[in-house]
Amino acid sequence: MSEDRACVDLRGPFAGTSGHLDAPYWQTPMPVIDRMLNLAEAGPGDTLIDLGCGDGRIVIAAAKRGARAIGVDIDAARIAEAEAAAREAGVADLTAFRCEDLFATRLEEASIVSLYLAGHVNRMLAPRLRAEPRPGARIIGYCFPMPDWPPEVSETFEHVALSLWRVPPRP
Ligand SMILES: C[S@@+](CC[C@H](N)C(=O)[O-])C[C@H]1O[C@@H](n2cnc3c(N)ncnc32)[C@H](O)[C@@H]1O
Repeated sequence: MSEDRACVDLRGPFAGTSGHLDAPYWQTPMPVIDRMLNLAEAGPGDTLIDLGCGDGRIVIAAAKRGARAIGVDIDAARIAEAEAAAREAGVADLTAFRCEDLFATRLEEASIVSLYLAGHVNRMLAPRLRAEPRPGARIIGYCFPMPDWPPEVSETFEHVALSLWRVPPRP
């Protein structure tokens, strides 16, 4: 069986539908988010997309640095929490949240994509992450590697691996 076929099988028949998560809901600690956004040099002029945004904490932190930021999550409860948190933080005008399957999210407008998902999900996303965002865009990942795509920067921060990949120039 090919690795890609194994990944599709791992997702299961109901993947991408409400209540069938490709990764469980865990939160990235705030100090780690600061470090990830520093690695990506996030700031005004950036558009960050967080695939699987949970309570919106990465999106909100990026918006506080002046970036436009978009969060996508398949769980409607998470999206409601994220929207409320963005209003509370005073960054609703810089943020947008969408309840959708991250495999359906287009990445062309992203200058930064953030990922805290699972190894097999990274594997499935990798071809699109290399091709869709603008060349030079940064991919920042918490915990999980990207098979067959060595990161430009990799470090251990608070006992967990952080990685940064850069989208290559178009051939
Ligand atoms: C490990 S949490 C990360 C949350 C947030 N990005 C953070 O770092 O704090 C993974 C998130 O992905 C969401 N998720 C899982 N499968 C998804 C899918 N197919 N499409 C969109 N979101 C998904 C879950 O609901 C969960 O909120």
